[in-house]
Amino acid sequence: MAKYKITHDRDACIGCGVCASICPENWKMDDDGKASPISLESDADCNKDAAENCPVQCIKVEEVG
Ligand code: F3S
Repeated sequence: MAKYKITHDRDACIGCGVCASICPENWKMDDDGKASPISLESDADCNKDAAENCPVQCIKVEEVG
């Protein structure tokens, strides 16, 4: 199973919620309206879909093993 390293530019996040909707395994919405990754190392493939579909491209996902 692949493992992914997650980077999130939270300043750039506009809180659209797509990541948490596509990949609830590893993305949640916070009280301030922005998203956060639940873990910075995750084996959920949907992290890639979240990164691809984020409208401001503020999620980076790197496969680390
Ligand atoms: Fe923010 Fe992008 Fe998610 S704008 S809420 S990180 S899809």
